[in-house]
Amino acid sequence: MHQRGLTRHIWATQKKGINSNDTDFLCHSVRGEAARWGFIESILGDVGEGPIILFQSPNQGCSLPHILITAGFHGEEPAGSWGILEFLEQGSPDLFDKVSISLIPWVNLAGLSKGHRFNFAGENPNRGYFWEADTAPSKEGAVLLHHSERLKDAAKDGVLCCHEDSFSNSAYAYTFEEGNEPGTFSKSLRDELGRFFNISTASSIDNCSCTEGIIYNHFDTSFESWMVSSGSRVGACTETPALAPFHVRVNANHYVMGAFIAAILEHSAAELS
Ligand code: NI
Repeated sequence: MHQRGLTRHIWATQKKGINSNDTDFLCHSVRGEAARWGFIESILGDVGEGPIILFQSPNQGCSLPHILITAGFHGEEPAGSWGILEFLEQGSPDLFDKVSISLIPWVNLAGLSKGHRFNFAGENPNRGYFWEADTAPSKEGAVLLHHSERLKDAAKDGVLCCHEDSFSNSAYAYTFEEGNEPGTFSKSLRDELGRFFNISTASSIDNCSCTEGIIYNHFDTSFESWMVSSGSRVGACTETPALAPFHVRVNANHYVMGAFIAAILEHSAAELS
């Protein structure tokens, strides 16, 4: 979540001849896989670089847990978006028997296509989600805010936002739960990151207190803070280390999504028993 300038952050993907900033390939591939799963596609808006799309399983509004996974807020952090593609490629819509899934695989297409953090107007698409805050929403943020009621329903049991830290070689996560200490949800995501990377030992990251790789219940004007404040039972913003190989970060994001869903399902099973 570091603030940096216009350095381009672009990596080769495992797809032949395709780089991480090939948003046409990414969007086309995700749409194809989402159609195979039976996701319903809704265009939330377009700020000039292509549509911001919400993909939703057909079982919205059912009694199953409802979760939202997002990525691609910051253009130099592409592994989350590619991780959603890998999650779709390797997974199966059998998951819809257990959970109601919503995906926003990219938010900041301008930034992703250039490998730049911010959007074309230099705005941070992960700030300004509280109207009373000093920071106004970005153009992309305004699109998401316009659909706030729908997103709150989609994320009521949990929200996962996949980010990367451009200058780190270790992983960490911002997590949100009830209670004064990180619980099983926070720890399961941190431990999943730990299967792929060293976990950060820093006690402070971007002026936030961090313990064993978890920055706990830190509320700012980010999308994840807004979703949790709006009723999501749990939330997380995971940070994979951009100094690690790209394909490992993509794979880690894919598996973190699995761990996120597993943690939500374990909670709901415990509540029913
Ligand atoms: Ni970020």
